[in-house]
Amino acid sequence: MVAAMAATHCDWSDDRVVESFTPDQWSKLQADYAPPGAPTACPPHVQGQWSAAKCQAAARLGQQLFFETRLSSNCTVSCATCHDPDRWFIDSRTASNVSSGAITFTGRNAISLVNGGLKDDLAPQDQHEVFTWGGHYTSPGSVLRLAAGKPMGNEDVEAAVDKVIRSPTYWATYMGVFGVTDSQSSVLANIELAFDAYIRQLSSLDAPFDRFITGRADAIGEDAQRGFGLFVGKAMCAECHRGPLFSDFRFHATGVPQAGANVPATDSGHQKWTMQPADTGTFLTPTLRNATRTAPYMHDGWMANLAEVIAFYRAGGGSVAAPGTLDLLMEPLDLSDQDVTSLEAFLATLDGAPVPETWTQDTHVKAPCSVAR
Ligand code: HEC
Ligand code: HEC
Repeated sequence: MVAAMAATHCDWSDDRVVESFTPDQWSKLQADYAPPGAPTACPPHVQGQWSAAKCQAAARLGQQLFFETRLSSNCTVSCATCHDPDRWFIDSRTASNVSSGAITFTGRNAISLVNGGLKDDLAPQDQHEVFTWGGHYTSPGSVLRLAAGKPMGNEDVEAAVDKVIRSPTYWATYMGVFGVTDSQSSVLANIELAFDAYIRQLSSLDAPFDRFITGRADAIGEDAQRGFGLFVGKAMCAECHRGPLFSDFRFHATGVPQAGANVPATDSGHQKWTMQPADTGTFLTPTLRNATRTAPYMHDGWMANLAEVIAFYRAGGGSVAAPGTLDLLMEPLDLSDQDVTSLEAFLATLDGAPVPETWTQDTHVKAPCSVAR
């Protein structure tokens, strides 16, 4: 028994960082950061009601529609325009911070959809409004109501979606997935589920960090290991970026300025939905998985690279328009230049495997697109 324990301990003994944690701390970290499993094919609220085959078919329909510019009022944008499958589902069109839609700018930085299904699985049930920066939507598919509105230039989202689905191009597929009974229910609600099912396929796990935390000390370099120690230690990142997705699923004001081309002068963040003054300028803690791939950063894309992000925290965050809302953790950090490098090295270990190619293909049905108005 004693020998076995010594052996376990010995596994870690040549790794300075892991050694710097007590065994209790380390096992707690291993539990807190245990790698998540890939999401099931079926969205949570239809699990047990839909067969796996139906969920798969819904995901394929969602994939077709993801690339469908006919969902926009003037045939100019599809979901993939701002969530580019070849660039980790972010808006890669210009270096400009915020996305431009069919008619206007969105005012915000497009969020990567990779691991969006996991967010749905892992966010606590009692605080599930975790989609978009301001956090109002409770599933990835439900963001359709926002996306197909102003960004895609439609005044009436339901009518716009209905028109595309009831066209000869998609109606047979839709009926094949949802059947006669479901065709009576809201097309919009079913299409939300199709997008849910599709986005659940966009997983990227199995990052070097996942191998490290489950026991392979050499899966990440020494510098990155040091960075993890800082991340959960004096840099205090894990106070907000914790758990398997590196998010507490809560809202914080860190003082990111409203700056850059086409960024509105103010953004009330989560307050828009809660109407609570204390929520003014708070935004959802984003996941850090695949962060190296999804520049620029923050809700308005104000930061071009991770070095800028870390410099921002090192200086104690920014300043806020509404007094008293800045998160208490936003204080200057005592970090050396080497600490900054180590944190960056750690963040790079959160890059996962690519999204399976079968889910990044443009499969929409080509058909003429007519401008609605
Ligand atoms: C004009 C660019 C644009 C288009 C087109 C667009 N999006 Fe987005 N998307 C964004 C932006 C910007 C955000 C962040 C919105 C916010 O925080 O208010 C976002 C956020 C999201 C999110 C939230 C992700 C998360 O984890 O919080 C989902 C899901 C999403 N979009 C899905 C879609 C789908 C599905 C479509 C097509 C029906 C679509 N988007 C079309 C720009 C776009
Ligand atoms: C008080 C909670 C909190 C702490 C502490 C914190 N963050 Fe954040 N982090 C956030 C929030 C909230 C955002 C989004 C802010 C925004 O967009 O305005 C964010 C955004 C980020 C982003 C941008 C991700 C993206 O996709 O745009 C990175 C990278 C990041 N944080 C890394 C870190 C690191 C590294 C530390 C420690 C040095 C840290 N954070 C500490 C809450 C926090």
